[in-house]
Amino acid sequence: MAKVLVVGSGGREHALCYKFSLSPNVDEVFVANGNGGMDDVATVVNIDPMDFDGLIQFAKEKEIDLTFVGPEIPLCAGITDAFKKENLLIFGPSKAASQLEGSKCFAKDMMQKYDIPTAKYASFHDYETAKEYLVQQTCPIVLKADGLAAGKGVIIAKTMDEALKSLKEMMCDDLFHDAASSLVIEEYLEGEEFSLFAFVNGEDVYPMQIAQDHKRAFDNDEGLNTGGMGAYTPVAHLPQSAVNEAMEKVMKPIASAMVKEGMPYQGVLYGGFMLTDQGVKTIEFNCRFGDPESEVVLQAMTSDLYETIMQVLNHETPEITFSDDTYIGVVMAAEGYPLSYRKNIDLSDLKLKAPECFHMGTKKTADGLVSSGGRVLFISAGAKTLKEAKEKAYERVHQIEREGLFYRSDISDKELLKETN
Ligand code: AMP
Ligand code: GLY
Repeated sequence: MAKVLVVGSGGREHALCYKFSLSPNVDEVFVANGNGGMDDVATVVNIDPMDFDGLIQFAKEKEIDLTFVGPEIPLCAGITDAFKKENLLIFGPSKAASQLEGSKCFAKDMMQKYDIPTAKYASFHDYETAKEYLVQQTCPIVLKADGLAAGKGVIIAKTMDEALKSLKEMMCDDLFHDAASSLVIEEYLEGEEFSLFAFVNGEDVYPMQIAQDHKRAFDNDEGLNTGGMGAYTPVAHLPQSAVNEAMEKVMKPIASAMVKEGMPYQGVLYGGFMLTDQGVKTIEFNCRFGDPESEVVLQAMTSDLYETIMQVLNHETPEITFSDDTYIGVVMAAEGYPLSYRKNIDLSDLKLKAPECFHMGTKKTADGLVSSGGRVLFISAGAKTLKEAKEKAYERVHQIEREGLFYRSDISDKELLKETN
C-alpha cells in the first residue's frame, strides 16, 4: 500500500486528495500545506509548498511513495528537480519544462517553432517598442504578462485607448509586478473554450475528458478574468473532432518538441483551447491540473489516479475511464475577488464534505472555519444529465450562500442552451 503526498492548498488539491484516497492502492494521503477543510480525506501537514527542503525531509521520514504537486509556483521554481535529486518519486514537470506555463514568451516561441496552432503574436521587453506595434493592431486585442499571474495577467482590450492604458499599466506601473516586464501582444480569438488535461511522459500523451471553465467573475462572461468561477465535464456540445485535433496538432507535437529541445515533459499538461472557425487554436499551456476544472474531471474519472500515474511513469499504457454522468461545480468567492477581497467570512456551520464541497480557501480558527482565500468553496454535483447536475449543485449553493460570498448563476448554461435548441 502506498503513501501519497499532495503539495498545495486549494480546491484542486482537495480534489486530488479525495481522488487518491479512493484508490485501493493508497492507504495514506498527506497534503502540505492544505487548508481548513481537507482533513476529511487527507492528513494536513503544515509545510509550505515552497519549502522544498522541508517537503523532502517529510517525504523521506514518512517514506512517501509518490509526490504530486498541484500548483504552478513550486513547479516553476524546480520542486521536481529537487525531489529527483534525492531519488524521490514525483510526478510533475521539471523547472525547464514548466516554462510552458511559467513564460508566455517561451510557450509562444515553442508553438511558432513547431508549427502548433495558436493566436498570432509578438513578444516585447520594452514599452516603447510594444506601443509602436500595438497602435498598428486592430481591436479587440489581447495583452499577456510574460510570467505567472494566477490567471489574472491577461487583458482583453476592446478599444485602442483601453489597450494603450493597459499596456502602460502592465509595463510601466508595476500592475503585475515582475510578471509583465516582458509581455505578449496577441490576436483575439473568438469561439468556444475548452480545457484538456493529459498525462505526459516524454512522447507518451494520454488525454482525460475535456471540461469547460468560466473565467470571468460574473454572469454572461462579465467582469474581470479570474482563476475560474465554475466548470463542468464532459462538454457534450463540442465535437470529438475538436478534441482529436487538439491532441494531434497540439498536445502530441508539443510533447515531442519538448523532448527535441532536451527538456522532456513529465507530469500533467493542461492545454487551454479555443475552437474557432479556423479550427482549434491553443490559448495557453499550464504545467499542472486546472483549478476548478480538475475538481470535476477527477470526479468523473472512474479509473485509479495512483495506478494511472504509476503506469505513465513506467511507460505503460494506462486505461483511463470516465463515468457516463455529468459533473458540475460552482465557485463561491469572497466579495471583491479577483481584486482585494473580504476575509474571515464565517463558515462554521458548513456541513458538506468532498466531493459535494471542495475547500478552495478556508482555514480553521479557534472560532471555527472561516474563509481565507478569494475563491472559497467549490460546490459540486454529478447526475445523469447536466440539467439535473446543475440543479443539484445550485441547491447546495443555496444552502450555503451568505453575505460576503458571491457566485455565478450561469455555470454550464452555454451547453444547456445548445441542448434545448
Ligand atoms: P490565459 O491566462 O492565457 O489562460 O488567459 C486567460 C483567459 O483569457 C483565457 O482563458 C481566455 O478566456 C482569455 N484569452 C486569452 N487569450 C485569448 C485570446 N488570444 N483570444 C481570446 N481570449 C483569450
Ligand atoms: N482554471 C484555469 C487554470 O487553472 O488556470
